[in-house]
Amino acid sequence: MGIFTKKPINKLILDSSDGEKGLKRTLSATNLVALGIGAIIGAGLFVRTAAAAANNAGPSVTIGFIVAALGCALAGLCYAEFASMIPIAGSAYTYSYATMGELVAWIIGWDLVLEYAVGAATVGIAWSEYLNKLLEMVGLRIPYEWSHSPFESLKNAQGDVLSQGMMNVPALFIILMLTMLLIKGTKESAFVNGIIVLSKVSIVILFIILGWSYMRPENHIPYIPEPSIYTDTQGVSHNYGGIWGILGAAGVVFFAFIGFDAVSTAAQEAKNPKRDMPIGILGSLVVCTILYILFAHVLTGVAKVDDFRTTGKEASVAYAITTYMAGHVWLANLVTVAILFGFSSVILVMLMGQSRVFYSMSRDGLVPKVFSDLHPKYHTPYKSNWIFFVLVGAFAAFVPGDIVGDMTSIGTLFAFMLVCAGVWILRITNPEIKRQFKVPAVGLVSTLGIIVCGAMIAGLGWTNWARLGGWLVLGLVFYFVYSRKNSKLK
Ligand code: ALA
Repeated sequence: MGIFTKKPINKLILDSSDGEKGLKRTLSATNLVALGIGAIIGAGLFVRTAAAAANNAGPSVTIGFIVAALGCALAGLCYAEFASMIPIAGSAYTYSYATMGELVAWIIGWDLVLEYAVGAATVGIAWSEYLNKLLEMVGLRIPYEWSHSPFESLKNAQGDVLSQGMMNVPALFIILMLTMLLIKGTKESAFVNGIIVLSKVSIVILFIILGWSYMRPENHIPYIPEPSIYTDTQGVSHNYGGIWGILGAAGVVFFAFIGFDAVSTAAQEAKNPKRDMPIGILGSLVVCTILYILFAHVLTGVAKVDDFRTTGKEASVAYAITTYMAGHVWLANLVTVAILFGFSSVILVMLMGQSRVFYSMSRDGLVPKVFSDLHPKYHTPYKSNWIFFVLVGAFAAFVPGDIVGDMTSIGTLFAFMLVCAGVWILRITNPEIKRQFKVPAVGLVSTLGIIVCGAMIAGLGWTNWARLGGWLVLGLVFYFVYSRKNSKLK
């Protein structure tokens, strides 16, 4: 058996049935939309939007959101077909093992580390920014050195270094807390998730409504800036303005949509997957896209692009409110508190997703057994959780948010492209398999999905391509040295 060996779908369903037996079909379409929104709104909106406006697109970051949403909708349809066909609590890894063989499955599983583990680090860093904002409100502050990575420094207008980052302690702290929670197996109850979703959506809507009258038309002119090169305070150059600026911004804010695929993992619990999965996936996307566009429009109307490059670079939304919306300090406080909880739930979902993927890979023999060892009392993959704590913690503590954020985006985009291809391939190779939901015009949707996601990857620029390439090469070495020999299927 070679690197293109596929895991038979029947075996896949059989494998899953011992672990996931007994999941009840209780989720309605509305529940699924809420689940999606709970996993989606987070650091992408509250941190990456301002970064994309500052570095890539100015006010036209809103158009970036539209491009990103389009890519997600196309990939989302493909996810929905997979989820309705392979009805296990799975992910892109599981789907691809059945469709494109072991090597591609390995690449996706490895790549998903970028989505989940590095994504969790990104949100952890965002959490740290907003924690500092909260502390500032009561006159405290964690010193710059201990809330930033060694690659960041605080400079004055003349470019002199005022403080040098050492380690992002709050980001490490929140990752540690949530890892421990995960090991204890505390499942976030539907009730708590409901409250978090409600508060996240409410603050987004509040900011849109209250911020609307504080927008200054001059901040939106020009809406699409002239193409130029912008070099940020850390010395990194970006394509700013024009079409490349918009594509770059789309790649950056794509982060804000990550998590909608979490809906597909609940396929087994949906009451009526055929109808509800596409509604759940596309419904949460539509709601978030509308909110995001309005939010980004107001944010870039209230504050200037220059703010997001300097004093408003961090905790940008709270900054915009306190600086430009007189009398609304309460709103800034509310946003900050709500979002600290909101970020925590996103991190939890990502850490859980990561351990799930590696759990499956470990059961398939592609990564060592330690990733599927369960805790004697809590029945959670606790060793895996600790190993990932070290990895995620290291990223959160020592790498800047912009870098981990873009790595998350590019990794996920790449996985989406493979999923788009996979769904089409499987239609041709296994037309007989029953599909509860079928992508309409599959050839067209797959191709467009690959093109739109590919365009965003192109927009993210060569440093990110190099990082993705490096990560994949590392994964291939691991595959040929370890996984290929230990694969259970073999
Ligand atoms: N979409 C999630 C966020 O923005 C990952 O935090």
